[in-house]
Amino acid sequence: MGITKHEATKRIDKLRQQIRYHEKKYYVDNDPQISDYEFDNLVKELEKLESQFPELITPDSPTQRVGEQPVESFPSVEHSIPMLSLDNCYSQEEFIEFVQRIDKLLPGEKLEFVAELKIDGLGIAIIYRNGHFNQAITRGDGFRGDDVSANVKTIRSLPLAISLKEEVEVRGEIYLPFASFEKINQEREKKGESLFANPRNAAAGTIRLLDPREVAQRQLDVYLYYIFVNGQQQPSQWENLQLLKKLGFKINPHVRLCRSVEEVLTYYDYWKQHRDDLDFDVDGIVIKINSTDQQQRLGFTAKFPRWAIAYKFPARQATTRLIDIKIQVGRTGALTPVAILQPVQLSGITITRSTLHNEEELRRKDIRLGDYVLIERSGDVIPKVVAVMKERRTGQEKPFVFPPRCPICQTPVFKPKGEVISRCINPSCPARLREAILHFASRRAMNIEGLGEALVDQLMAKKLIKGIPDLFHLQQEQLEKLERMGPKSAQNLLNQIDAAKKRNFHRLLYALGIRYVGEKTAQILATHFRSLDKLAQASYKELVELPDIGPKVAESIIFFFRQKQNQELLQRLKEAGLKTEEEKETGEAPSQGRFAGMTFVLTGELNRFTRDEARKIIENLGGKVTSSVSRKTTVVIVGQNPGSKLQRAQELNIPIWTEEKFLHQAGLTA
Ligand code: IVH
Repeated sequence: MGITKHEATKRIDKLRQQIRYHEKKYYVDNDPQISDYEFDNLVKELEKLESQFPELITPDSPTQRVGEQPVESFPSVEHSIPMLSLDNCYSQEEFIEFVQRIDKLLPGEKLEFVAELKIDGLGIAIIYRNGHFNQAITRGDGFRGDDVSANVKTIRSLPLAISLKEEVEVRGEIYLPFASFEKINQEREKKGESLFANPRNAAAGTIRLLDPREVAQRQLDVYLYYIFVNGQQQPSQWENLQLLKKLGFKINPHVRLCRSVEEVLTYYDYWKQHRDDLDFDVDGIVIKINSTDQQQRLGFTAKFPRWAIAYKFPARQATTRLIDIKIQVGRTGALTPVAILQPVQLSGITITRSTLHNEEELRRKDIRLGDYVLIERSGDVIPKVVAVMKERRTGQEKPFVFPPRCPICQTPVFKPKGEVISRCINPSCPARLREAILHFASRRAMNIEGLGEALVDQLMAKKLIKGIPDLFHLQQEQLEKLERMGPKSAQNLLNQIDAAKKRNFHRLLYALGIRYVGEKTAQILATHFRSLDKLAQASYKELVELPDIGPKVAESIIFFFRQKQNQELLQRLKEAGLKTEEEKETGEAPSQGRFAGMTFVLTGELNRFTRDEARKIIENLGGKVTSSVSRKTTVVIVGQNPGSKLQRAQELNIPIWTEEKFLHQAGLTA
C-alpha cells in the first residue's frame, strides 16, 4: 500500500483542487485545459484514495456529485428570503410606463439598468455554508419550496465548494440546453414514452426524478443571477453578477449594464431577433434597477418587486381547441390529417390549422376531437401540435377514427406493413389528379404559369380536364367561359401550355411525379437512358447500378411504368408532342446566381432592409420577386406583423425565411 493517511490527505486535497479547477474550465468557462482522458484519470485516482480512506470523503468532494441511492421524497423547506416572481410586460409602451413609475418614486435620480435574458427554466435557491454546498430549494410558491439538493448537486457547472465561508445563498435558473432536451425526447420516443413539450417541462420533470443517477444523465445546467452573503446583496446587481463569477458560478454571458432606456430597448430588439441562436430557451428579458439602494427604496408591491420587470418576447406556444380533423390527399395518395383549430394568435399571426403528420402521430399523442392542444411555432414558423392538454379534458372529447376509405374517391386506403402513412391507391382519385396536375405545372417541373389551384379546380369541376394530357387539348372557347378568364388570359394560358411541350425530357420526368423521383434523380435518369422508351424498359438491376438510386427508388420506377394507366398517360403525352428524349436545352435563359429560378414574396415590416433593397439583392442573384403567394413561390420572406401571405405560404408548405435567414442565404452575413 505504502501511502500514509497523512500523505493521502494531502494528495486528496490536491486532486480535489485540480478537478474543481478543470470542472470549472470545462463546464463554466467553456475552455477545457486538459483532455477528457487526463481528467478521468484525476477522478479515478481520487476515487481510489477515497475508497482506501473512506473517512476522508467529504460531501463536497467532486466524487460526491451523484448519490448512489434514490431519495425518498423532496422535503418542503421555507425560503429565508421569499422568492418572488416578476411582473410582465409585452410592449415598449408598457416597459416605458414601468420606468416612469420608478422616475416618479425616485425623482431626479439617475437610473442604471441591468438587462438579462429571461431563461425559460426553473427558479432555484442554493445555500452554501462554511464554503460548502448545503441545500438547493425549488422556488415552489415563493415562500416554501422542495429540497432537491441531491439532484442539483449533479449539475457539473455548479461548484460544490466556494471560497466564502459566510452563509451564502445564490439564486438562478435551472434549464436544459436544447441539445440535451432533444436527446431526452429521442430516447423517450424510442421507449414509446410521451414526449416533453419543451425544455422547461423536461427540466421540471428531471428535477423531480427520485434517482440522482438518472438526473446526472440528463445534463441540466444552471445560470445564477443573485447572491446574498449573510442575507446582504452587493451594492449593485452588476456587482452581484461579478461576485458570482469570481466565486466560480456560471452567469449568463449576455448580461448587460444599460445606462438608458434606449439601450435596454436595443438589447430587447436584438435578442428578440436572435433568440434562436442561443442553445437554450428564453422567453424574454429581465430588466433590473442596478443600484441595490434604489431597489430597496422602491420595494415591493403585494406581488412583485417594483425595481424589476420581465419584458416578454412574443409567445411561440399557445393553447387552443382542436375543432376538427380534415384529411388531405396528396399527389402520391398520402392521407395527411390536418388540425382545424379555433383561431389563435401566435407571435403576430392567426393560426387556424396545423399539420398532424400521420395517423401514428395522432395515436402517439392521443389527440382527440375537442381537445385543447399546445401549438408551437419554432424557428421554422410552421405551427405544429406539440402536446395535448389532457388535464383540460371533460370527457366529451372523441377519438378520431382514421377513415378506412379515401374521403374524396371512397377507395379503401392502404397502409403497407411497417409504414406510417395511409394512402389512397386509386390513381384516378380526383384529389390525387388535382395535386398531380399542380405538380406537373409547378415552376421547377413544366412551369406552366397561370395554372394554379383555383384554375385547376375550375377546369376539373367543369370536366374540361380529368388528367394531365387533357391540358394539351384545351380550347380557347372553353377557357374563355371560365370565371376571371378573358380572351387574352385564355390565350396566355394556351401559350404557356404550348411552351411546356418544349421543356426538356428530364423536366417532364420530374413533372410526372413518380414517387421518390425528385429533380436530381430525374436528371440522372434522363442523362443515362436518354429517352422515355428506354427508361420504361429499364430493369431493376440497371436502375440500382446508377448513382443515387437505391432499391426503393428503383422499385418505384418499375412500378410506375408497369401500371396501365401510366402507360396510357405517357402515350398521350407523346402524342401531344412533349419531349420524351433528352437533348440540349434551348430557349431558356442559362441559370446564374444562387437564387436563379427562385421566386420570392416579401411580407410584413422589414427591419434589416427595404423592399427595394431586397428586390435588388434577389434580382442580382438571379431570382425574382412577385407580390402574391402561389404554388410557384419558392420562398416567402417574413418581417414583423406579417399578414395573410404568411398564412397562405403555410398552407402551401412554402419555405419561410426570416430576414436573417435571407441575408445568410444571400451570402450577406456569416
Ligand atoms: S430575477 C425578484 N432574473 O423568471 C426577482 N428571474 O417570472 C426574481 N427568470 O421566478 C427573479 N431568468 O425563475 C430573474 N435573469 C433572470 C431570470 C429570471 C429567468 C425566472 C425566475 C423568476 C421568473 C419570473
